[in-house]
Amino acid sequence: MTSLVSAVPNIQEIEMKGSSNVIGSKRMNNGGEENKGVCLSWKDLWVTVSGSKNESKSILEGLTGYAKPGQVLAIMGPSGSGKSTLLDALAGRLGSNTRQSGEILINGNKQALAYGTSAYVTQDDTLLTTLTVKEAVYYSAQLQLPDTMSKQEKKQRADSTIKEMGLQDATNTRIGGWGVKGISGGQKRRVSICIEILTHPSLLFLDEPTSGLDSAASYYVMKRIASLGKKDGIQRTIIASIHQPSSEVFQLFHNLCLLSSGKTVYFGPASAASEFFALNGFPCPPLQNPSDHLLKTINKDFDQDIEMDLAHMSRTISTEQAIGILVTSFKSSEINQEVTNEVEVLSKKDNNSTYKKKKHAGFLNQCLVLTRRSFVNMFRDLGYYWLRLGIYIALAISLATVFNNLDKSYGSIQDRGSFLMFVFSFLTFMTIGGFPSYVEDMKVFERERLNGHYGVTAYVIGNTVSSLPYLLMVSLIPGAIAYYPSGLQKGYQHFLYFICALFSCLMLVESLMMIVASIVPHFLMGIITGAGIQGIMMLAGGFFRLPNDLPNPFWRYPMFYIAFHRYAFQGSYKNEFEGLKFDRDGGVGGSLNYISGEEILRNKWHVDMSYSKWVDLGVLLGMIVLYRVLFLIIIKTTEKVKPFVLSLMAVSPRKTIHVLENPNATPLHVEIV
Ligand SMILES: Nc1ncnc2c1ncn2[C@@H]1O[C@H](COP(=O)(O)OP(=O)(O)OP(=O)(O)O)[C@@H](O)[C@H]1O
Ligand SMILES: [Mg+2]
Repeated sequence: MTSLVSAVPNIQEIEMKGSSNVIGSKRMNNGGEENKGVCLSWKDLWVTVSGSKNESKSILEGLTGYAKPGQVLAIMGPSGSGKSTLLDALAGRLGSNTRQSGEILINGNKQALAYGTSAYVTQDDTLLTTLTVKEAVYYSAQLQLPDTMSKQEKKQRADSTIKEMGLQDATNTRIGGWGVKGISGGQKRRVSICIEILTHPSLLFLDEPTSGLDSAASYYVMKRIASLGKKDGIQRTIIASIHQPSSEVFQLFHNLCLLSSGKTVYFGPASAASEFFALNGFPCPPLQNPSDHLLKTINKDFDQDIEMDLAHMSRTISTEQAIGILVTSFKSSEINQEVTNEVEVLSKKDNNSTYKKKKHAGFLNQCLVLTRRSFVNMFRDLGYYWLRLGIYIALAISLATVFNNLDKSYGSIQDRGSFLMFVFSFLTFMTIGGFPSYVEDMKVFERERLNGHYGVTAYVIGNTVSSLPYLLMVSLIPGAIAYYPSGLQKGYQHFLYFICALFSCLMLVESLMMIVASIVPHFLMGIITGAGIQGIMMLAGGFFRLPNDLPNPFWRYPMFYIAFHRYAFQGSYKNEFEGLKFDRDGGVGGSLNYISGEEILRNKWHVDMSYSKWVDLGVLLGMIVLYRVLFLIIIKTTEKVKPFVLSLMAVSPRKTIHVLENPNATPLHVEIV
């Protein structure tokens, strides 16, 4: 096999032949700090996922490679070969059910790459669907670019990036999502790239940047990405997974990492890949795109036999055998040796170069931009508040008619209690209707947070402030419709208290749902979880079973004190019953003819009369703050704990043996449990 490989050009030779733009990290060190660039190298990288029955499956199997400043590394391979997993591993974004081992070094140092140190365009586009292309990129520019740049400069940067990605004709079209058609899939892809290249990052991960694009658009997008460095003078390290590059796009790649079922079939200069295949008996047929040929040879999903042509002796073998031949041949090849040597060189510690964090807009600016963006999104998304407003108005009209003009009879005591219970439990419960829209919002937040566009605190502040006017609207309008015709206490202070309590409860449920979304990010599971939690709180709130009758363990201590319904019920009962007198049922003569509101509160509803209704409202407001802070803590803790947990889990893969069912086939990785 060595003789076959010796004909393949040496890596260094190819680099020398390449453009003068290709500069190794060592040469970069002589330059200024800004232009230093990022060298990424990985050695014997394994990624495994644990499945059922304590079995684990290897997704990446001992990959070694590197990516250098000023170069484009393309990761290619059939679907499911591990391209996205490799990108995730390199960017420090593997899921919690995966285990990683091996060494990933940035400029020779072990550093965590997540949270804002690199830009990553993921395979799925997560964008705010209600914004237009221009708005999405503008807001992002204002969030990401530092305060040292003026607003005008930021706009200019956004405009030029939009043009760079060929989106100038779609600037005023909404992005669109489920239910609302907006820009095309290919355009969404380009908006995602646009947002990530705004800050001119030194390290750029792109997962299938050209999917959904025609061959011309793919070429222009890739060419512009590859030549970004020429414009801003930053020697950029680009790692892109790609499915079907045309021959023109293929020529833009400096290095190629070809994967099949998580194994390296080839890693080295892109231009030498076809030669490597030819030398191993798989020459590219004339007039065929080399990348198509490479992928066809190593795709074993469809059980296709392929023709092997070695030393003019042709025979038919299975794709599995072909992959086996290529993998074994690559392991013993000179190219592999060169790669290993290069990785060794790159892993020498470069203490002078630290990978600088991106500078973004100041905290206040971020809060302002996020508030504005979130306000626009809530305004345009019908599911967020408008639909709820409509339903609430319909329910308020129903309440006003069912409980119309309550009198002061004994029976109206129960009616008033039921009215308040319905408002503060069922009406607030329906706040979960806005959860799907919120989950979409959270997905965008998650992506932006991982790419370090802004902090969690700015997001929480932006979301809270922008939702205030809408929450006020959905509590004030339906509240007024339901309150006055029902004949509850007329004074404006009573109405004001009722609205304040309703507003606080709606905001509380929103805050609760934010916490649920941070733990259960799936919208259906989130709705079920949120509904379950609220159901328990409602039961413990003191209406369905009176407080003194609640079983002590769990329901009274602690649930009765944790459930916000308790404070909403008791506060609103005090607001309604204090100062009123009702006819005593069956009572005769004198002072016994009526029953005071205070008496009803104490004896009928078991309300704690040792403090005023304002304390109840204060507790509700305090709970809102507590819930929002809790959300912040959960996100921040996950951020801090996740890399730690991943590093704990990053143990060397368990002892394995290779079982060769067929000597020519790729070795199967079987685990000894
Ligand atoms: N968290 C996980 N749990 C279980 N299996 C996983 C997990 N992540 C990835 N895999 C499996 O690992 C393999 C590689 O997945 P990956 O997404 O990296 O493929 P890919 O090369 O990016 O494919 P595509 O081109 O279709 O995007 C797949 O078979 C996938 O099912
Ligand atoms: Mg993928």
